[in-house]
Amino acid sequence: MADFDFTPLLPPGSPPPAAKWTGSPRYNFTGGNNDPAQVPVEALRVAADAVLRREGASLAYYGVAHGPQGYRPLREFLAAKLKRDAGIGCTADDILLVSGSLQAFDLINGALLAPGDTVIVERDTYQGMLNRYARSGVNAVGVPVDRDGLQIDSLADTLAALRAKNIRPKYIYTIPTVQNPTGTVMPVDRRTKLLELASSYGVPVFEDDCYSDLIWSGERPPALYAMDTTGGVIHIGSFSKSIAPALRVGFIVAPWPILSRMIALKVDAGSGALEQMVLAEYCTPRFAAHVPALRRGLRKKLETLMAALDEQFGTAAEFDDPPGGIFLWVKLPDQVDTMRLYQSALAAGVAINPGPEWSTDATHARSRMRLCFASPTEDEIREGIAILADICRKEFGVPERSANIELRAERR
Ligand SMILES: Cc1ncc(COP(=O)(O)O)c(C=O)c1O
Repeated sequence: MADFDFTPLLPPGSPPPAAKWTGSPRYNFTGGNNDPAQVPVEALRVAADAVLRREGASLAYYGVAHGPQGYRPLREFLAAKLKRDAGIGCTADDILLVSGSLQAFDLINGALLAPGDTVIVERDTYQGMLNRYARSGVNAVGVPVDRDGLQIDSLADTLAALRAKNIRPKYIYTIPTVQNPTGTVMPVDRRTKLLELASSYGVPVFEDDCYSDLIWSGERPPALYAMDTTGGVIHIGSFSKSIAPALRVGFIVAPWPILSRMIALKVDAGSGALEQMVLAEYCTPRFAAHVPALRRGLRKKLETLMAALDEQFGTAAEFDDPPGGIFLWVKLPDQVDTMRLYQSALAAGVAINPGPEWSTDATHARSRMRLCFASPTEDEIREGIAILADICRKEFGVPERSANIELRAERR
């Protein structure tokens, strides 16, 4: 069949065409995937059976007749969970269920942002958000992150500098609880200061909390949304990191004046209801027991990854032992360009996320990389890191030698 030429019909600003998927790399340290062995398949199957038997006929109605905010029992589960874990006092009516928290990004950005607007973000942050800003002509100003998350002094300087230029940022986007990619958790006193600063400049805070269930200790600081007294915080979360990303179920908690704007923009006639029904059925009795087991498994994989890096890279790989999550943010020696390392490693079947794709500052992130340890097996972690070190040595001369395991104690 001849190829019809759609190109002249594409509106200006269309993204470049997607590359065809050619399969997963053998050693995959990319993306925010979960551990396949930890998906509670059998219990989800039982939950699906029970909820379909009981309520399956309600699938005849858009949104299973629970309105545009999504399946009510799941919103009720979330309201109770958010109260217990994050200190958030909200009801099912304050929650909008969405198709993964990526849809939350689009609704929040759709409600608040126009081309030319400015937002403040953590300097190293989630690529999915940076891409959205780039595509929509939004200027993202990065504020450095230290071991306690977003640096408040730098945030104060940034807000003041923007004000001096008459720029009011539309929001501060932060991942305060297990930051992506750095893994940091912002302590309570810094949360208080962040909220004070934001409110003194009249800037809302966009809190992305999708990793907050994955803190090893099981204890997390209260959400910014819970601590706020101004109504200027929007909170989002997801079941992707605690249950499974392919379900595509996330949520927004926000004060009605702005939540109602997002509902008005959600014109997809509701997110998939079956996933919401199964999650509610599964989570209400089982979530609290599932998550600690998931955390233990992830922590074990992290330890395997840190040991493999120590063994293969020695002191050439610098990282902090993160308090939770699924990522390790690794600094390699300055001569390593991780965009190049990424290409060569991929050719050898090892996929990494090069730092510059996860930062507003490509120079700072040039020799950094993000490694996801949740989805590869422990054997794949060990083998993949050995191959990566070999490639890095050939391309950049570091690490100079392997089997530096004795250096581990020295570094930490
Ligand atoms: C910080 C952050 N926010 C949002 C998302 C998107 O998650 P979801 O699967 O809920 O769309 C991710 C996915 O990795 C993420 O890391």
